[in-house]
Amino acid sequence: MPIKRFMTLERHIIENERKYPGATGELSNLLSDLALAAKIVSLEVNKAGLVDILGFTGDKNIHGEEVKKLDMFAHDTLIKAMDHGGHLCVMASEEEEGLIHIPPQHKIGKYVMLFDPLDGSSNIDVNVSIGTIFSIYRRKTKGEGQGKLEDCLQKGSEQIVAGYVVYGSSTILVYTTGNGVYGFTLDPSVGEFILSHDNIKIPTKGKIYSVNEGNYLYWEDGLKKYIKYLQQHDKETCRPYTGRYIGSLVADFHRNLIYGGIFMYPRDNRNPNGKLRLMYECNPLSYIVEQAGGKASDGHTRILDIQPKELHQRVPLFIGSQHDVRIAEEFVQGQRDLETK
Ligand code: AHG
Ligand code: MN
Ligand code: MN
Repeated sequence: MPIKRFMTLERHIIENERKYPGATGELSNLLSDLALAAKIVSLEVNKAGLVDILGFTGDKNIHGEEVKKLDMFAHDTLIKAMDHGGHLCVMASEEEEGLIHIPPQHKIGKYVMLFDPLDGSSNIDVNVSIGTIFSIYRRKTKGEGQGKLEDCLQKGSEQIVAGYVVYGSSTILVYTTGNGVYGFTLDPSVGEFILSHDNIKIPTKGKIYSVNEGNYLYWEDGLKKYIKYLQQHDKETCRPYTGRYIGSLVADFHRNLIYGGIFMYPRDNRNPNGKLRLMYECNPLSYIVEQAGGKASDGHTRILDIQPKELHQRVPLFIGSQHDVRIAEEFVQGQRDLETK
């Protein structure tokens, strides 16, 4: 059997950047810093059951949710890995209310990074996949000082890099720079991310739907009908669909990216904007899904076109295969009803 050419994440990033004349290599360095942070968090996640890192810190984050130690570990690790590379002018994290500034002793760069350090934190204690999600923008404000809120509040369509890491049965890092989606699996023996998923494309239509059906009573009628539609029998459209819901967005998203299908976190009576955060969760995953040929919407508008008003803004999310998200929109917008045969 011929030996396959190994493509490490670092080499992939460098080769990708070389395609752009005038590229300075800064993005490559930035992504390498991120990969290092991912490796450190991965290591910590893997030994979470062995050391005193499980359990609650007793603190609540700005969303009123209990913060577990591993959330803060991931948050601190990402900041520590990224704040001194000289590439960023400001950061923002789901776990911190305000902007994260670059310490004065370090060089200030021209990029902005937003991240969800640990997604799916309710699954930490039970060995279920969790992850990290990140998003990078070019700075908007002029000057060389600290970045400002305006630099963070950019539309998702302005992203130049987005990615996520899933700490699951293996650790995988998936990223896009607007030129396709690539997945790298961490080989723990050599400590390298190796290309395992080349140019990922999401199937145009899937057979999986992912939503927290416990919220059914609070949903709008259009959504209730859509879920009923997915559960009906129809050979031609491969219904009924299969329900799959992990409760870690990043892991649910990753599965659907590979197999096809739709993930939803809709608005409901209690949460008019849903639960997920535009800047840390929805925008990066929407950029990735579009790069893979899929679609992401809040039910009415393309996620990447939403002008953010605040750092921790929430939006409803419908994300996945083109066809599935389009049908979901039709139901949510009241343009489609259940077929009675
Ligand atoms: P986080 O752990 O970063 O706060 O995110 C949790 C999110 C997301 O990962 C997941 O899809 C969703 O919460 C699950 O929410 P429900 O428990 O309401 O279904
Ligand atoms: Mn999250
Ligand atoms: Mn989180």
